[in-house]
Amino acid sequence: MEEKTPKESESNISRVMLPPDANVAGNVFGGTILKMIDEIAGIVATKHCRRNCVTANIDHIDFIYPVHIGDLLEMRGRLNFVGKSSMDVGVEVFAENLETGDINFAGRATVTMVALDNSAKPVEVPRLKLETDEDKKLFKLGLERYDERAKRVKLMKKEEQR
Ligand SMILES: CC(C)(COP(=O)(O)OP(=O)(O)OC[C@H]1O[C@@H](n2cnc3c(N)ncnc32)[C@H](O)[C@@H]1OP(=O)(O)O)[C@@H](O)C(=O)NCCC(=O)NCCS
Repeated sequence: MEEKTPKESESNISRVMLPPDANVAGNVFGGTILKMIDEIAGIVATKHCRRNCVTANIDHIDFIYPVHIGDLLEMRGRLNFVGKSSMDVGVEVFAENLETGDINFAGRATVTMVALDNSAKPVEVPRLKLETDEDKKLFKLGLERYDERAKRVKLMKKEEQR
């Protein structure tokens, strides 16, 4: 099976926040940020496997810094873990005040994307080639999350069948 490093799919996107992205007081909606998180995760996953990818899960996110209209919102995404058809993309969110140049960390999330074949069935993706200590540490954490998730999804599917 083909192997690819996290570096090969690492990506950034950024966009200036405009009035439709925010409430009447100028605070950017959490949903605007989540949409961009989903977008960057899709880009990273698709670059890794060059397949159609869908979002299976967005992990917990705390919005720890208020983003305002006029700020440049930047998403930095990298692949942390690969199962068979699933890929965990770690996303970090930064907000830059374009007038002062101040950049603040605004949150992070892990998104699980699943690659689909032409019949919309999950399909195996390239393995992750771990080069650095950071790659190895993030993969180990991803594996723990994958095992936890597998138990939860199994339980959910059982409940659905009742
Ligand atoms: C994600 C999806 C394709 C999984 O399909 P499925 O029939 O449950 O497939 P499987 O049980 O074979 O699981 C396939 C992989 O998805 C992972 N997976 C399934 N449900 C998951 C969930 N809720 N969270 C994280 N990973 C999940 C499995 O762990 C498995 O990973 P692996 O191949 O690396 O071992 C399916 O649930 C789906 O289409 N969901 C909707 C996706 C979508 O439209 N998202 C946009 C918002 S609605």
